[in-house]
Amino acid sequence: MEELQQILDQALAQFSKISDEDHLEQAKARYLGRDGSLTAMLKGLGKLSAEERPKAGARINQVKQAIEAALQERRDALGQAKMAARLAAESLDVTLPGRGMGSGGLHPITRTLKRIEQLFHSLGFATTEGPEIEHDFYNFTALNIPEHHPARAMHDTFYIDPNHVLRTHTSPVQVHYMQENKPPLKIISAGRVYRVDSDATHSPMFHQVEGLWVDEEVSFANLKGVVQDFLQRFFEQDDLEVRFRPSFFPFTEPSAEMDMSWRGGWLEIGGCGMVHPNVLKHVDIDSEKYLGFAFGLGVERLAMLRYGVNDLRQFYESDLRFLKQFN
Ligand code: PHE
Repeated sequence: MEELQQILDQALAQFSKISDEDHLEQAKARYLGRDGSLTAMLKGLGKLSAEERPKAGARINQVKQAIEAALQERRDALGQAKMAARLAAESLDVTLPGRGMGSGGLHPITRTLKRIEQLFHSLGFATTEGPEIEHDFYNFTALNIPEHHPARAMHDTFYIDPNHVLRTHTSPVQVHYMQENKPPLKIISAGRVYRVDSDATHSPMFHQVEGLWVDEEVSFANLKGVVQDFLQRFFEQDDLEVRFRPSFFPFTEPSAEMDMSWRGGWLEIGGCGMVHPNVLKHVDIDSEKYLGFAFGLGVERLAMLRYGVNDLRQFYESDLRFLKQFN
């Protein structure tokens, strides 16, 4: 029975030195496993006499329980140590200030578009939209733009296939709208347009606002009044003036470039004119009865002037330091 005490002492000493859970389970096998020393002693009980057997059996079981208890104690200790180490390593300082929630904001061009739409709504214009990938018919043919017109050239326009282009202006929306609605019509349509062009004042993608008013009595003077009224409100300048310069667009007659007064000079802000009878003909509107005006304004130009931005490309470089200033 001295041997039993030795096994117990040895097990306790060994367990207390182990600091790894896997090693602990391996050590357990040395005593309680199939070939363990305590298991061997239990097997040896058969060789003892009937009187000795119960006492020896009880004693072996005591030791077995002591070893199991020591094992469990060690397992718990190792588990706790592991948890403590993790807690220390992954410490969370609840006294640190929060990181805060980043709040997004509207892009300056989006802000400008919203402002433009609001102002035209207040002048009685409805809003409509058209596709950015246009059939050649809407972008050119229906707008009276002839076959040989330079705008149709590959080096000016992004062709998707021989019949589809990324729209080069918002004017095709006029055609869509007049196909689906009968006059009187009074709409604006803002959106992206595309041209093969890139420098400080041109980007291959930019925005335009198209305006269209068709009715029995709409005049060139109305056109100028609407544009001037809009610009005065947009720039919050009651003395802002608009000047028309004779120009040419295949889809308007007469046509004009629109300039606005700015710091003692004039700045071009878009094109306009009276809707050409051929355009009305394409959409089955009686050009004897109805007439109308149309205009196209460059949105980036308006945003640049309003915000004092001198390089248009800044709008599209996604530099947060620039964009944050507008929110
Ligand atoms: N679509 C023309 C352009 O992009 C502008 C315009 C619109 C001119 C409407 C006349 C009437 O240059």
